[in-house]
Amino acid sequence: MHETPRNPRDLTGLDLDDILGTINAEVRQRFGEGRVADYIPSLADVPRDRFGIALALLDGSVHEAGNARERFSIQSISKVYTLTLALEAIGDELWKRVDREPSGDPFNSLIQLEHEKGIPRNPFMNAGALVTADVVLSGFDAPERTLLEFLRKRSGNPEVGTDEVVARSERESGYRNVALANFIRSFGNLHNDVQDVLDFYYLQCSLRMDCVDLARSVQYLANAGRCPVSGERVTSAEGTTRINSVMMTAGTYDAAGDFAFYVGLPAKSGVGGGIVAVVPHVMGLCVWSPGLDEKGNSLLGRYALHRFTRMTGLAVF
Ligand code: DON
Repeated sequence: MHETPRNPRDLTGLDLDDILGTINAEVRQRFGEGRVADYIPSLADVPRDRFGIALALLDGSVHEAGNARERFSIQSISKVYTLTLALEAIGDELWKRVDREPSGDPFNSLIQLEHEKGIPRNPFMNAGALVTADVVLSGFDAPERTLLEFLRKRSGNPEVGTDEVVARSERESGYRNVALANFIRSFGNLHNDVQDVLDFYYLQCSLRMDCVDLARSVQYLANAGRCPVSGERVTSAEGTTRINSVMMTAGTYDAAGDFAFYVGLPAKSGVGGGIVAVVPHVMGLCVWSPGLDEKGNSLLGRYALHRFTRMTGLAVF
């Protein structure tokens, strides 16, 4: 057990496979905790006794344990990638349309929008993700293909795709998102047709990936904005710092304080039970377990990340 913080570039003496094996065994003792998202059947039907963890180091190596190769619905994790694309499209102009403050409210809350004139608190709550989706729609000729190609390239998996059934169910049950989008539109902060923005948002939520895909797909956020494999620039170094800081302060909604406290890494969760996280200069990682806590974050996923940073000394604080 490493009780003192370590130089993140120095992994000497850490047996990552052994650590992942220990965490995997611990988590499996706790299967059954948490509640699977049940607002749509395709999420409600996912068994709770699943746990996967994957690390994608900048040297190209991957370490994994448990159900790390089982695909799941990435849901709000997609907001990291659309934020990256929105920054590519309009740069810092984005911050005039969406703020970067933690909200302290649930991810689908409408409450702050009225006082704050249709400017969402951050790009990771649904309101902010709708504005980001609008920016991506305006910024690229083929936005859906752009997002898919982005993820196929980032993960190195050409088979990353969307789930039509999930996208359709999101559309059928998305009353709050419809309200949010119309409300934001009434302030002039959506430029495209409301339904087009919603459809793009539902599509991004319906992407299916596994832990290994997702760990690889956030490596650029650990590498000053460059893909560690090809060297390709994905976003600027400044953009990387900003995306990571918003993940830290708002990536897990009204549990972001708790995540900083217990985990200490920039992270982004989704109601499918996945959480991606970044150890700057070292690795992208992903955990998945479908049982959620009351804030909509994977309960055992959070536990696993907590154990990981405590066993490795890799929290950023
Ligand atoms: O917008 C929605 O309601 C769903 N697609 C949930 C997105 C999500 O993952 C939020 N967070 N944890």
